[in-house]
Amino acid sequence: MSILSGKNILLGICGGIAAYKSIFLLRLLIKKGANVQVLMTPSSKDFVTPLTLSTLSKRPVLSDFFDKKNKNEIWNNHVDLGLWADFFIIAPATSNTISKMSSARADNLLLATYLSAKCPVYFAPAMDLDMHKNLANQENINKLIKHGCIHIPAKSGSLASGLEGEGRMSEPQDIVDLICNDIIKDLKYYKKKFLITAGPTYEPIDAVRFIGNFSSGKMGFSLAKCVLKFGGNVTLITGPTSLDLSHENLKIISVVTADQMLNETLKHFENSDITIMSAAVSDYKPKTKLSYKIKKQNDEPLSLDLVQNSDILKLLGNKKKKNQILIGFALETDNEIQNANNKIKSKNLDAIVLNSLNDKGAGFGYDTNKVTYINNKGIVKNFKLKSKDEVSIDILDQLITDFHEKI
Ligand code: CTP
Repeated sequence: MSILSGKNILLGICGGIAAYKSIFLLRLLIKKGANVQVLMTPSSKDFVTPLTLSTLSKRPVLSDFFDKKNKNEIWNNHVDLGLWADFFIIAPATSNTISKMSSARADNLLLATYLSAKCPVYFAPAMDLDMHKNLANQENINKLIKHGCIHIPAKSGSLASGLEGEGRMSEPQDIVDLICNDIIKDLKYYKKKFLITAGPTYEPIDAVRFIGNFSSGKMGFSLAKCVLKFGGNVTLITGPTSLDLSHENLKIISVVTADQMLNETLKHFENSDITIMSAAVSDYKPKTKLSYKIKKQNDEPLSLDLVQNSDILKLLGNKKKKNQILIGFALETDNEIQNANNKIKSKNLDAIVLNSLNDKGAGFGYDTNKVTYINNKGIVKNFKLKSKDEVSIDILDQLITDFHEKI
């Protein structure tokens, strides 16, 4: 699947002979699964027809502020268009449009949309050699770069005028490659394989009862969501929760007991680059699971024989290969830092995320968390109380800082 799949792209076409290349650019974007809305300046229609572009994009091409053919005169809202877009590509960008963009003129829909757009804007100048070289035009291009637009420089070669030199619009395939590479650069964890555990485990006592804990799974799900946003692939092994998440790069495996979590985790560990164990695994389970419901004994206390579950994280720590990163969580009530440091050593971790039950708004069930991150070199980072999504970003950013050579 392409990185452009599902992206909303505005393709702005200005009036120049290179507009014929926009048809190829549009085809490439559509083939990559992007949703493309074409915006044309009035004069570009002299070079390519709206019919060709609307047929290829499967959407009406927009050019005017009002749809004059429609009796109700529908307003093409430039603000909505600007907000809809993930990217705006103006190709070809003529001297006229570049000049208007650089001075905030808005006398057509393409320009008004440009001024409203919040997304990255790419512009690919195309004009004749001397027009391109013209100082005022060069100044305008530089102004746009200063304003934050991304310049796709014109190439040298033979021009429509018959002259040779710089002014040809960059080739459609090169434009698509450049944008794809920019997206990948921003995806900090592009194609990295994550294994994340989340939620509690339930250890059956009898046919209707279990030993569990109050973990909601929110932290693990939030981590998975952030990794997916950063371009990674996630296998999420979760104990019982009410949460749900779906994404093409996500595989969710639901388990109930610590033993099931152990089995699934071991199956997927070898193939993972980064493993984050945020699950609250039950340390103990009843020695035997009764197949019937235990009846109440009159006034008699009931005692259960418990045996220890395997420490999944410790097992993974023993199996860890050099290039794998292994992160644990620790929930502590006292001697927090020392206990967390001990867990880093005893479980062979690269880092641990410490929750203290002494912090308000942190821990099980909350949408917020307050964590301390400690790595295996003893670096301690205290983060403020934040939403679990913000905490996830802090953790993932910190991993890049600490382990960039492995990531
Ligand atoms: N963990 C695990 N398997 C267990 C218990 C814990 O993989 N049987 C993992 C948790 O997912 C977490 C880390 O170990 O990433 C620390 O869990 P925590 O409950 O804080 O510590 P324990 O090692 O269980 O030690 P204690 O309960 O004594 O603090």
